[in-house]
Amino acid sequence: MNAKELTQQLTLDEKLKLISGKDFWHLEGVERLELPSIMVTDGPHGLRKQMIKGEHIGLSESVPATCYPTASLLASTWDVDLIERLGETLAIESKSEQVSVLLGPGANIKRSPLCGRNFEYFSEDPVLSGKLASAWIKGLQKDQIGASLKHFAVNNQETKRMTIDAIVDERTLREIYLKSFEIAIKEAKPWTVMASYNLINGTYATEHNWLINQVLRNEWKFDGLVVTDWGACNDRVKGLKAGLDLEMPGSHGAHTKEIKEAIKHSNLYMNELDSRVEKIIELILKAKAALGKEPKPFDIEKHHQFARQVASEGIVLLKNEHTILPLNDDQKIAIIGRFAKEPRYQGNGSSLIKPTKIETFYDAMTLRYPSQILYTDGYSLLDDNINEAMIDEALRVAKDSNVILLMVGLTEDYESEGFDRKHLSLPKNHEKLIEAITEAHSNVVVCLSNGAPVLMPWKDKVSAIVEGYLGGQASGVALADILSGDVNPSGRLAETFPNSLEEIPASLNFPRDSKQVIYQEGLYVGYRAYDSLSIKPLYSFGYGLSYTKFLYENLSITVSEEDVKIKLTVQNIGNFDGKEVVQVYFSKENSLIYRPLQELKAFKKINLKIGEKKEVEFSILLDDLKIFQDGFKLESGSYQIRVGSSSQDIKLQEIIDISSKDKVKKDHLLAYRTSNKPFQPSKEDFEKLYGEPIPKSRAVKPYTLNSTLEEIKDTLIGKMIYRMVKKEYHSIAGDNPSKAMRDMLEISIQEMPLRSLVLFSDGKLSKKRANGMIDLLNKKRFKGFIKLLFG
Ligand code: BGC
Repeated sequence: MNAKELTQQLTLDEKLKLISGKDFWHLEGVERLELPSIMVTDGPHGLRKQMIKGEHIGLSESVPATCYPTASLLASTWDVDLIERLGETLAIESKSEQVSVLLGPGANIKRSPLCGRNFEYFSEDPVLSGKLASAWIKGLQKDQIGASLKHFAVNNQETKRMTIDAIVDERTLREIYLKSFEIAIKEAKPWTVMASYNLINGTYATEHNWLINQVLRNEWKFDGLVVTDWGACNDRVKGLKAGLDLEMPGSHGAHTKEIKEAIKHSNLYMNELDSRVEKIIELILKAKAALGKEPKPFDIEKHHQFARQVASEGIVLLKNEHTILPLNDDQKIAIIGRFAKEPRYQGNGSSLIKPTKIETFYDAMTLRYPSQILYTDGYSLLDDNINEAMIDEALRVAKDSNVILLMVGLTEDYESEGFDRKHLSLPKNHEKLIEAITEAHSNVVVCLSNGAPVLMPWKDKVSAIVEGYLGGQASGVALADILSGDVNPSGRLAETFPNSLEEIPASLNFPRDSKQVIYQEGLYVGYRAYDSLSIKPLYSFGYGLSYTKFLYENLSITVSEEDVKIKLTVQNIGNFDGKEVVQVYFSKENSLIYRPLQELKAFKKINLKIGEKKEVEFSILLDDLKIFQDGFKLESGSYQIRVGSSSQDIKLQEIIDISSKDKVKKDHLLAYRTSNKPFQPSKEDFEKLYGEPIPKSRAVKPYTLNSTLEEIKDTLIGKMIYRMVKKEYHSIAGDNPSKAMRDMLEISIQEMPLRSLVLFSDGKLSKKRANGMIDLLNKKRFKGFIKLLFG
C-alpha cells in the first residue's frame, strides 16, 4: 500500500497521534500497518544520538560518533565533492545507529558575525551556502538516510530566537535568505525541511502559509515533509493548514482538542489533515527501506582520518610573511596556548558530539618534531583573567625558540547555540598573551580556533595567521599537516572578516531588547556590503593564501539563450602542489534597480601539481542572474563578469551583453543606491523597500502563551513558574561543569515562551493549565484557578 492508501486505513485518533512525535527523537509508528517508529537526531557535523534522556540543547550524553568540522570550516573548503563525501560518511554512522533522519544541514545566511550559532552555518552568500548544503544532502541521502534542511527560514540570530519577528522585504528574502534553501531544495530534494522558531513578517515560520505552501511546496515543488524545530509549534491548526506536517518533539496530545474542534467547525478539512499524514507515512516508508538491514559498526579510524582530511582542506592561511610557513625542519618551536592540549573543536548546543577520539595539536606536533617542541599554557581556560605568571612563563619559553605558535581563539563561553556574541574580540587573556609575545619576539604564528570572525588588532605584529575554525576531533593533527607543509592550505573564507562591528550594515539593527529585527540593510549582507560601499575588510570573502601561486589567463565567454559559458586557464606557477578556488562574480552595469556591486554565481576548487595548467569551465544559467521584482526577472544590458581568487582579488574580467524580454522597472530607493559611508538607511527608507509600514511590535501585556518566562517574571506567579522550570532543567543538566552550557540553559529558560513549556513538558503540563497560568498572570484569578484545577 502507498502512503495515500495507508492514510485511508487510519482512524482520526491515529492520524492525530502521527502528526506529533512519540518522544524527543522518535516519530509515532502504527504497528498494525507495519509502520515502524523511526528515529531522527542531530546533526549536522556528526551524529548526536542521545542515550537516555532526550533534550534539544545538548545537555545529556550521546553515543560516540566522529566529530567532523563545523559548517564554518566545511564552507571554507569550497569543495562540493568533499562535502558530498562527508554526507556519505554521516549516512554510514547514522545507519550504524539505526537513525533515519539526520537534523541538518543549516543553510541560514550569516547576517552578522554576532550570531552565536554561525559556526553551524555555511556562509554569508546564498550560492555557496546552497551548493554546499545541497552536496551534504546528496551525500547523506544516497544511502537512504534523510536530511532535514534547517532552519527555514530567516533564523539569523539566537537572541530571542523563539519569539523574534524578522522583518524583511521580499526581494531580500528571495535573493538572499530563501535563496540558499531554494538551491538546496531544488538540487538535492531533502527528505525533510525544518521550520524555524521565529516569525517572518509577523507570522510564525511553522504556520506561514506563504512560506510553506506557496513558496516551498508550490513554487519550489518540494514534496517532502516539513517538521517544526523542537518546540516551535505555535498554532497547530494554522500550521496544518499552512502545510506543516510534523510537530516535534511529541506534545502528548496537547493540540488534539483544538484540531478536533477545527475539523468539527470546518476550519480544517479532513483532506488537509490527510495530506499532512501522507507526508509522514511517506517518510516512514522511505526510512523503513534502510532500517530493514542489520546495522554495521563503522570504521572509527577511517572516519577519523576523513575528518582530518576535511579539516585540513578548510583551514585558511590568512597571512604568511617571509614565508615563515611551512615550518623548517630544524627549528625550535614554541607552542603556547592551552588550546594545543585542550582544543576547542566544536560548537555548543544541539550539535554537540561525543567524539570517538581526539588528536591534539600538541600530540601531533611532538610526534612530528620529537626534540624541537617547547610548550606552555599561556592562559587558563577556567576564566578570562590575565595571569602574569603564565605570561612570564610564555615569554621565557618563547625566548628559547625560533618560531612561536600561539594557539588562541574563542572559548565556548563566547559563542553557542542559544545566545549571541556581545562583541568580536578575543578573550582578554588571549589578547594579552599575543600582545606580550609580539612585543618581545618576531616569528609569531597565530593559530585561531573559533566558529566565526574575530577582530585582530595585532594583525600587523605577527608573521602569520592561520584560521582553524572549529575543526572537529582531528583539528589538531590537521593543523600540524598545514603548518608542516604536508598539506598545502587551500581553505578560502566563506565569510567576510570585519575591522569593526560598526562597519557591518546589519549592525543597524541587531536587537537585544526588541521583539523585532528589521533587516534594514536589505541586500547589503557580507561582501555585498563591503564591495558596494568600498570598505576594505580585515579579510575579504573568498580570501585565503596558499604555499604556491596561481596564474589566471585566457578568459573566454559565450552567451546563449540559456546560459553564459565561461572558460579560463589556471596554472600553478609556484613550488608546491596545491588547490585553488576559482570564483565567478557578476556585476550589472547601470542597473535600473539597486544592487550589490557584485555577486558570486559559481565557483570551483581545482587541484594543480607544480607547473600544471588546467582549463576551468563554468555554465551559469540566465535564470540564475535574475533579480526579484514581482517575480524573478532578467534585466537586459551589460554585465561584467569577474573571475578571481576572492571578492576583492579579481584576476580577469570581461563585459557581456544580455538581452531579455523581461521588463524591469526603475526603483526609487535612493538610500540603497548610495555608496556613502556610513550606510544608514532610515526606517522610512526601509519602509519604501518593504512596501508598507513596519508592523507594530507585540506588546508585553496582556500575557499570552507567547510570553516568555523572562517577561512573566515581573509578577509573583511568573517568578514562581520561572523558578520551577529552572529547577526542572537544572536537574536534567546535573552538575554539568561547562559555563557555556549553564549560560545557554539560563538564556533558553528566560527566552522560552509558555507554549513551548507545554511542548517540552513531556505531557506534564497541559495546554489548558498553561492557559490557566496566563489567566492568573493577567489577574483573571477565578478563570485561571478553574483551568488549573480541571486542566
Ligand atoms: C535546534 C535544532 C535542533 C533541535 C533538536 C533545536 O533547538 O534549533 O537545530 O535540530 O533543537 O535538537
